[in-house]
Amino acid sequence: MKAIILAGGAGTRLHPITKVISKQLLPVYDKPMIYYPMSVLMLAGIRDILIISTPHDLPNFRNLFGDGSQLGLRLSYAEQPRPEGLAQAFIIGKEFIGEDDVCMVLGDNIFFGAGLQGMLREAIQTVEQENKAVIFGYYVDDPHRYGVAEMDKDGNVLSIEEKPKHPKSNFAVVGLYFYPNSVVKIASGVKPSARGELEITTVNQEYLDKQQLKLQVMSRGYAWLDTGTHEALTDATEFVKVLEKRTSLKIACLEEIALRMGYISRETFMENVEALGKSSYAEYLKKI
Ligand code: G1P
Repeated sequence: MKAIILAGGAGTRLHPITKVISKQLLPVYDKPMIYYPMSVLMLAGIRDILIISTPHDLPNFRNLFGDGSQLGLRLSYAEQPRPEGLAQAFIIGKEFIGEDDVCMVLGDNIFFGAGLQGMLREAIQTVEQENKAVIFGYYVDDPHRYGVAEMDKDGNVLSIEEKPKHPKSNFAVVGLYFYPNSVVKIASGVKPSARGELEITTVNQEYLDKQQLKLQVMSRGYAWLDTGTHEALTDATEFVKVLEKRTSLKIACLEEIALRMGYISRETFMENVEALGKSSYAEYLKKI
């Protein structure tokens, strides 16, 4: 399975912070935001990753990660000239995806929870063995801001709507999706919505129509953090800070994950530490 991190968008809701810098490069406590979704992919065991961003911001992501080899990854980059929707990522990424199945994670979504790795592995298995798409639902207070899934008592999806005025449930569809290779073809047939975007919800609707959509609920033990507003951004920072301080362990520390997952050697790990200079982040890595 390959993966795409979509880190586009104008980030207008966070202006003026995002006037010259990409939202997904803003700090969330001690690391750039994109580290969090990147860590999710690494924990899932996915190492072929395409980063999609705006022509203006893409060079910065390239400067940050390079070819990914220092993390044991194979990174590619592609431009999304205009924010024309999440589903467009599969059109832009067509060549990169090739014959493979593909996961997509949004560059501004943060996930945390003890069972995360197991849940990700299960999603990959469902795609590979059952040829189904896997999406995740998370209970929120303000579902109208998101894609919303309605389920029956057995957890089967009944409907899925993008930012409905009258949500049929409180379950938001989070920005993490696992698809069989057929998503490339499905995405290329998607027509723009009323807001002029190729909606991921339309893609999910197609899988639902074909009875090939599985929704996994991310239960109360998980945190799914949104970074769409100034307040949500500081909340995310607080959340990471409190947890990291209390546990003395870092969340989404890519160098640590790369070492523990066996993606890189001790030597490469130490090169990473050297390159990080005198920061407390580097001090943490040294202790590992
Ligand atoms: C997008 C999707 C929406 C999903 C959300 C998760 O919304 O369209 O279905 O729930 O991401 O972050 P957007 O951020 O484009 O408003």
